[in-house]
Amino acid sequence: MPDHIKTIAFLGSPRKDGNTDLLLQEVIKGIESAGATVKTFRLNLMDIKPCQNCGGCEETGECIINDNMTEIYHDIRTADRVVLASPVFFFSLSAQTKAMIDRCQSFWCEKYLLKKTIPGGEFGRKGLLLLVGGMKKEIGIECSESTARAFFRTISVPEHSTLSYLGVDAKGAIVEHPSALKEAFEAGRKLLS
Ligand SMILES: Cc1cc2nc3c(=O)[nH]c(=O)nc-3n(C[C@H](O)[C@H](O)[C@H](O)COP(=O)(O)O)c2cc1C
Repeated sequence: MPDHIKTIAFLGSPRKDGNTDLLLQEVIKGIESAGATVKTFRLNLMDIKPCQNCGGCEETGECIINDNMTEIYHDIRTADRVVLASPVFFFSLSAQTKAMIDRCQSFWCEKYLLKKTIPGGEFGRKGLLLLVGGMKKEIGIECSESTARAFFRTISVPEHSTLSYLGVDAKGAIVEHPSALKEAFEAGRKLLS
């Protein structure tokens, strides 16, 4: 069964091999150990224009901007599992992550204005949120969690779990955390069950 489960992951950190990236890599290893594959979107490298609030999606549920979101829209629609991984920037999600989320306003219009459902597949839909903050201030996790929850519910992911780590600042410092990488691997494995 796991090899039929479609998993997509969004990496919202600009740092290659940074803390969020390393955490996500462990999640992916966990998913792969359960026999599935993951398609990862490195948002920092993609052409994703911020939402213009042009109202274009209000009547059709479709965004009128033609950029890399077109591929993401398709993959969100057909995904069974969605992983969202972001560093905490200014007590919230990174701009790369938030730009992608804001463009999901078209799903919001499709669901709540046009009253259409975004159907899940035979495996149901589940999400996983990964957050890493350099400071030891919970507000960064709380604000990020609120936005991520709105994102997941808008794209019809009814439940998600969260792994968050604070006080991890220097590039790659997450490897020194006593349990983070193990927990990430396990969360990936569990996401498929
Ligand atoms: C622009 C910017 C803003 C940041 N704001 C916060 C913040 O509000 N709270 C926090 O805990 N850490 C903050 N940090 C620290 C990062 O969360 C931390 O360095 C994290 O480990 C980065 O993850 P990455 O290696 O995956 O990019 C900020 C870093 C940057 C570059």
